[in-house]
Amino acid sequence: MPDDFEQMWRDLAPVGRSASSGGYNRSPWDSAEVELRDWFVEACAVRGLTVETDGVGNQVAWWEGADPQAPGVLTGSHLDSVLEGGAYDGPLGVLSALAALDVLRARGVEPARPIGIGVFVEEEGSRFGRACLGSRLATGATTWDAARELRDRDGVFLPDAIDSAGLDPARGLMDLGRVGTFVELHVEQGRDLVDRGVAVGLASEIWPHGRWRFDFAGQANHAGTTRMEDRRDPMLTYAMTVLAANKQARLATQRATFGRIAVEPNGTNAVPSLVTAWLDARASSDDALATLVGEIERQAADRAGRDGTTLAVTAESVSGSVAFDADLAARLAGVGDWPVIATQAGHDAGILSGAGIPTAMVFVRNPTGVSHSPEEHAETADCLAGVEALADVLAELTAD
Ligand code: GLV
Ligand code: MN
Ligand code: MN
Ligand code: MN
Repeated sequence: MPDDFEQMWRDLAPVGRSASSGGYNRSPWDSAEVELRDWFVEACAVRGLTVETDGVGNQVAWWEGADPQAPGVLTGSHLDSVLEGGAYDGPLGVLSALAALDVLRARGVEPARPIGIGVFVEEEGSRFGRACLGSRLATGATTWDAARELRDRDGVFLPDAIDSAGLDPARGLMDLGRVGTFVELHVEQGRDLVDRGVAVGLASEIWPHGRWRFDFAGQANHAGTTRMEDRRDPMLTYAMTVLAANKQARLATQRATFGRIAVEPNGTNAVPSLVTAWLDARASSDDALATLVGEIERQAADRAGRDGTTLAVTAESVSGSVAFDADLAARLAGVGDWPVIATQAGHDAGILSGAGIPTAMVFVRNPTGVSHSPEEHAETADCLAGVEALADVLAELTAD
């Protein structure tokens, strides 16, 4: 007998949760994430479904439907989190997929084609710095040869992390050949649905976004004896770059964030020799994003020239704009009266869409409007409305 939605939610609540902060640390291929992956296998088993786990940890379970050969409808999301993240980003889509399947069965629906429930690994890129790594590998957007060189903050190579989780990339990657359509349900990560006063919406597009590594290099020196005018201080260049990025993004109504930094030698009484900082930038079009990042780079380089420091910029994990499938959107417009909103957050749905798979997203209202933080939230009634909406969508897409 499948657990109901609220019971599943209670079961997952303690996994990877910090008792002191309340934040979640479900880092891919670490113990909490492995526990979640095992939980998913069990949750599918009680529904009579068998999970296929691919060589890097992507998972899918298929309810075959009347014609197992027909292109299937995949739904699901991810179970990893950002550092100190919230409970909903990712897991809500996986739990809702399981609960929607329960709803369809309770309604006596017999799908004409397969319905898959999927979990993609390392969606957040919190460990290896590449957002949506699992779906990028499965679609071929990132090759294994490129990915295998990635290292986490502790210097662990990706293949070793995967191996430590009992997985073997040689076993191959999730077969997306069966996927005719993908539908990802996700907690909303902003305030659009709150402002509109509705519990559920659909996504129209994902803004282009990406991560760029800025290496500011200078000269380590004594914090006391080195005159201010004699310094080559990369922290100064970095600080001015943060201000420039913030101003530039505000002026253009786009987004720019420096949320991660590493300093060498990282001592209180030394001018640093190196500051490495990661820019997360997002914009409403590919051109606007290129202009935004180009302008931040230009101002950073200009400042480096004045500070006697140097700057090297490396693009990591850049995702172009995604417009979700118009025919699918038109079809779903007939299923429910849902507003259609853009999102600035990246999702596996964007990667599958980029691979040519017709894709849609269902958003559930987040009353705090806060995400990537323990304050992220969704009311149970809204989550259940999301489950019903997803069930309606799946019923429509598998009716013939
Ligand atoms: C992932 O959630 C991202 O948009 O950064
Ligand atoms: Mn997510
Ligand atoms: Mn996220
Ligand atoms: Mn995301």
